[in-house]
Amino acid sequence: MAVERTLSIIKPDAVAKNVIGEIYTRFEKAGLKVVAAKMKHLSKAEAEGFYAEHKERGFFADLVAFMTSGPVMVQVLEGENAVLANRDLMGATNPKEAAAGTIRADFAESIDANAVHGSDAVASAQREIGYFFAETEISAR
Ligand code: TYD
Ligand code: MG
Repeated sequence: MAVERTLSIIKPDAVAKNVIGEIYTRFEKAGLKVVAAKMKHLSKAEAEGFYAEHKERGFFADLVAFMTSGPVMVQVLEGENAVLANRDLMGATNPKEAAAGTIRADFAESIDANAVHGSDAVASAQREIGYFFAETEISAR
């Protein structure tokens, strides 16, 4: 088992639903520590850059519009196998397919407003953490 860091975003729909605390509780109960966090209202350029891997997809413009529609909560999570552990907590991209008890099953309405983002691999986690945080903003715990 390896201690990893992953990048998590509580998306505008979940912030608007006032469930930041409920989602943080799930991280904590799974043994993931919040080692950096900030609330941000993403600009169009920030959202486009963050999701650049999807820029050729048909849903890209709607995704960017959604991600800039209100504030998001961005955090770095640290723990054993943090990347996969967070993906397990999140559930499938489409909340209709997400396992019972996952964040998306419980808080997401649709595939485009699906409550949370989580890095999908250690390499993407490193890029995504660097996109939002300087190393000096991440606390050792
Ligand atoms: P993706 O990286 O495939 O999913 P995940 O967030 O589970 O890693 O897609 C990024 C986001 O793009 C996804 O959370 C919601 C949006 N999206 C759509 O709106 N429609 C789609 O068909 C897909 C695949 C994603
Ligand atoms: Mg993804």
